[in-house]
Amino acid sequence: MNIIKTENYDEMSNMAANKIIEMVRTNPKATIGLATGSTPKGVYKKLIEDHKANGTTYKQATTVNLDEYVGISRNDPHSYHFFMREQLFSHIDIPLEQTYIPDGMAKDLQLECSRFESVIQDLDGVDLQLLGIGHNGHIGFNEPGTSFESRTHVVTLAESTRKANARFFPSIEDVPARAITMGIATIMESKEIILLASGSSKAEAIARLVNGEVNENFPASVLKLHKNVTIIADKDALQFI
Ligand code: GLP
Repeated sequence: MNIIKTENYDEMSNMAANKIIEMVRTNPKATIGLATGSTPKGVYKKLIEDHKANGTTYKQATTVNLDEYVGISRNDPHSYHFFMREQLFSHIDIPLEQTYIPDGMAKDLQLECSRFESVIQDLDGVDLQLLGIGHNGHIGFNEPGTSFESRTHVVTLAESTRKANARFFPSIEDVPARAITMGIATIMESKEIILLASGSSKAEAIARLVNGEVNENFPASVLKLHKNVTIIADKDALQFI
């Protein structure tokens, strides 16, 4: 794993955004894997600024998102569909039909998982996948104990994850109990992965990722088995490295 240490959140966001911009400029039909949460917001802001200032186009690009809550409609402000439209899609020129996010309202969730998995296979995989990291090492919504062989699946969220994400909802009771997430094997098939981390609250997770062993109890550790992973993190998140 390559590790790039940045001075702060802004520099981390800039570096990751530049990698995405370079990717779509050299390969306009690239498939970019996107993440939600607070961490990538700055990256999306930079992509929008660059699109407006320099005209980088996403007309032929495709995006796939890591995850979505079960039981929340795409127009609900708490959904990841809504988040992505607000934070990125509405401000760049990507056609919405080229943006794929699991449908947490699907009647048959298993079928939706297979459908999403086939979308990724049909696209010939993800060229560049952006990841955040949960305090317990989750990537996407793959909680500790998830098999490294997993494909897109329905998960029951860990209590700690629901607590961490309660800040986006009126109260913890409103945080859905389940989500659909890209599986670990699916994520590992991405040709290139960038994991972002910012702030001291992520420092222990990053230290465990870098110094710990590869183990299903810490999902992000699987990334050590991937050939092209870059951690872009600010100095607070890297304070124990
Ligand atoms: C959520 C998302 C993850 C994200 C993680 C960290 O649970 N499903 O994809 O990486 O939280 O979020 P944040 O960036 O807000 O710390």
